[in-house]
Amino acid sequence: MKSRQFVLLLCLVGFCLIGVCQGGNLRKKFYKDTCSRAEDIIKIKTWQHVSANPQLPSKLLRLHFHDCFVRGCDASVLINSTANNTAEKDAIPNLSLSGYDVIEDIKAELEAECPGVVSCADILALSARDSVSFQFNNTMWEVLTGRRDGRVSLASEVLTNIPAPFFNFTQLKQNFQNKGLTVHDLVVLSGGHTIGVGHCNLFSIRLYNFTGRGDQDPSLDPTYAAFLKTKCQSLSDTTTTVEMDPGSSLDFDTDYYAILKGNKGLFQSDAALLTNKGANNIVSELTNQTKFFTEFAQSMKRMGAIEVLTGEVGEVRKKCGVIN
Ligand code: HEM
Ligand SMILES: *[C@@H]1O[C@H](CO)[C@@H](O)[C@H](O)[C@H]1NC(C)=O
Ligand SMILES: *[C@@H]1O[C@H](CO)[C@@H](O)[C@H](O)[C@H]1NC(C)=O
Ligand SMILES: *[C@@H]1O[C@H](CO)[C@@H](O)[C@H](O)[C@H]1NC(C)=O
Ligand SMILES: *[C@@H]1O[C@H](CO)[C@@H](O)[C@H](O)[C@H]1NC(C)=O
Ligand SMILES: *[C@@H]1O[C@H](CO)[C@@H](O)[C@H](O)[C@H]1NC(C)=O
Ligand SMILES: *[C@@H]1O[C@H](CO)[C@@H](O)[C@H](O)[C@H]1NC(C)=O
Ligand SMILES: *[C@@H]1O[C@H](CO)[C@@H](O)[C@H](O)[C@H]1NC(C)=O
Repeated sequence: MKSRQFVLLLCLVGFCLIGVCQGGNLRKKFYKDTCSRAEDIIKIKTWQHVSANPQLPSKLLRLHFHDCFVRGCDASVLINSTANNTAEKDAIPNLSLSGYDVIEDIKAELEAECPGVVSCADILALSARDSVSFQFNNTMWEVLTGRRDGRVSLASEVLTNIPAPFFNFTQLKQNFQNKGLTVHDLVVLSGGHTIGVGHCNLFSIRLYNFTGRGDQDPSLDPTYAAFLKTKCQSLSDTTTTVEMDPGSSLDFDTDYYAILKGNKGLFQSDAALLTNKGANNIVSELTNQTKFFTEFAQSMKRMGAIEVLTGEVGEVRKKCGVIN
């Protein structure tokens, strides 16, 4: 009996060490005693910003993803470059990363309410959740709290950690595995592409020069490719954007999966999810909204726990753009 409990404990510790332990030391309502209104303030401020800018959910969701995939969810993505350091936000794959000002605005209000208490990493995780939740007047997933802010942000670490839109299934799977996430998480979290836009230059090769012979990606629906060509007229267009879920790119829904099945996924990395049998089956399952929302909530919880700093490690920044 005693030894059985010990073995169980040992297993738990073991799982935590290899990073399987969901949430680690994060917990519910971490600020209950130290800043009881923190989560309410974040939600109210986020909803105010979303009602003025319906694109904000896509910005904050992607920002949170980029934060978690580089050095864990430690708000390193929010740090400004200095004379001495080129930070993550100035790395090449930063196209359209934005929403920094919103997080800074929320942070300022929290500093006025309870100085030095609420981390930028938690603000970003909560605000991303609240921004997506706005359209539902609800809370779409649970966010555990207690993250601390990192003190390091290096542009050079972005390319090696953020998956590229040109990745094939093997590369995507490996990239997520490196963060302790599964193929299931990969397919579920890719559903984030139901909101937001992509820049032409990140997929135009599929339209104009797929194998270097002026050809088109055969896995892309030809009618849709013709439409995309009217939007993106050259391989070098770095300014035009296209909705990833045409017609409802502001709605968080299951359209992404229907689009994939219709061979209209925008990036090669989207289309790649159909090239693996297991992933393809998950795509089909997630066309069910109840299922997608439930699974998304669970996968976001796992993503939000990647390599988090807790306890005494790191700091609580005073401003999210600069280390203390
Ligand atoms: C699976 C690997 C992924 C790849 C290769 C990928 C790639 C990209 C690319 C290239 C863009 C377009 C950026 C631009 O042109 O401005 C984009 C946008 C976006 N991604 Fe991903 N992404 C991935 C996973 C995720 C995940 C896990 C999430 C969140 C759960 C996410 C959320 C978003 C959102 C919301 C946008 C729209 C941003 C906007 O409208 O400004 N992506 N992604
Ligand atoms: C930048 O580096 C120089 C020389 O190494 C150092 O003296 C200075 O304090 C650094 N500045 C900041 C803002 O870190
Ligand atoms: C992206 O990085 C470039 C430098 O590579 C920088 O000029 C630009 O301001 C950055 N964009 C954002 C949104 O941070
Ligand atoms: C949003 O939800 C709150 C609390 O659940 C409710 O009081 C309010 O009436 C809802 N607002 C709308 C517009 O449905
Ligand atoms: C995926 O891409 C990698 C790197 O380019 C390549 O080595 C591998 O063969 C590709 N895998 C498949 C299944 O195409
Ligand atoms: C298409 O790709 C080939 C091989 O990489 C290259 O030589 C050619 O210049 C490309 N065409 C265009 C229009 O960029
Ligand atoms: C969608 O998934 C839910 C939960 O798994 C299930 O109860 C429901 O029957 C499914 N709906 C359809 C149309 O398959
Ligand atoms: C970070 O840089 C941006 C753009 O240069 C600037 O607007 C912002 O005030 C800076 N944040 C901090 C905390 O210095």
